Amino acid sequence: MIPPFFRVRVLDVTSSTNEDVKQAAMAGEPEGLVLKAKRQTAGKGRQGRVWESPEGNLYVSVLLRPQCAAQESGLFSFVTALAVHEAVLKVLPQADVKLKWPNDVLVNGKKIGGILLESSGAEKDRVEWLVIGVGINVSSHPEGTLYPTTSLAAEGGQVELDDVLEAFLNGLDHWRLTLRHDGFRHVRRSWLAQAQAGAMRVRLSDEEICGQFGGIDEKGRLILRLANGAEQAIEAGDVFFA
Ligand code: BTN
Repeated sequence: MIPPFFRVRVLDVTSSTNEDVKQAAMAGEPEGLVLKAKRQTAGKGRQGRVWESPEGNLYVSVLLRPQCAAQESGLFSFVTALAVHEAVLKVLPQADVKLKWPNDVLVNGKKIGGILLESSGAEKDRVEWLVIGVGINVSSHPEGTLYPTTSLAAEGGQVELDDVLEAFLNGLDHWRLTLRHDGFRHVRRSWLAQAQAGAMRVRLSDEEICGQFGGIDEKGRLILRLANGAEQAIEAGDVFFA
């Protein structure tokens, strides 16, 4: 069952479900709206990248109004990653499903899902709206991407899109309420328990740095252990494993 907090609407095609839900948010739509599209013509990924969106995969955006401080809205990427992790594990119970900072879900080292958060911005004290966009590769996955990709089907999972959506929304409801009632501590611990650790290369806007995964801090920043023993906290970047 889909948790009663959510109202699911389905479109055959749209440019980007994130764009549609942003428009709805700015027009005053209450939180809990979930927009699912069968395909997108201008799906958006992180850092301005394109998210290829042919029919057969899950494209969904959720509207929340978390009333949190602007700098806390990024914590929802960990909440969402845990929900995607649970949905994937339900289909592939034997698979090695891991979380890659900041918000990717990997199966056997390949990306199966991505998360794009957009919010009303940092000008105001409180976040007025937060759009959580999620793409999960269910029946196909793109080639030639920055990071190797896979899909549920390619890993041997046969599943209906609606079952993946239901599992994701159940997880999202659980983890958003955990964040609200218990704070980031519990979400952080659960995220770390599923994190892909080890040697990594982090691409920042103007340089690349190498080190060992050292966890995430209380603000959700990546802690990178450098060769000289120092630790660096990273707010934004792309991670590649050795
Ligand atoms: C990433 O780069 O990993 C994030 C990908 C997010 C894709 C989803 S698909 C549904 C929603 N609508 C979009 O245009 N993007 C997000």
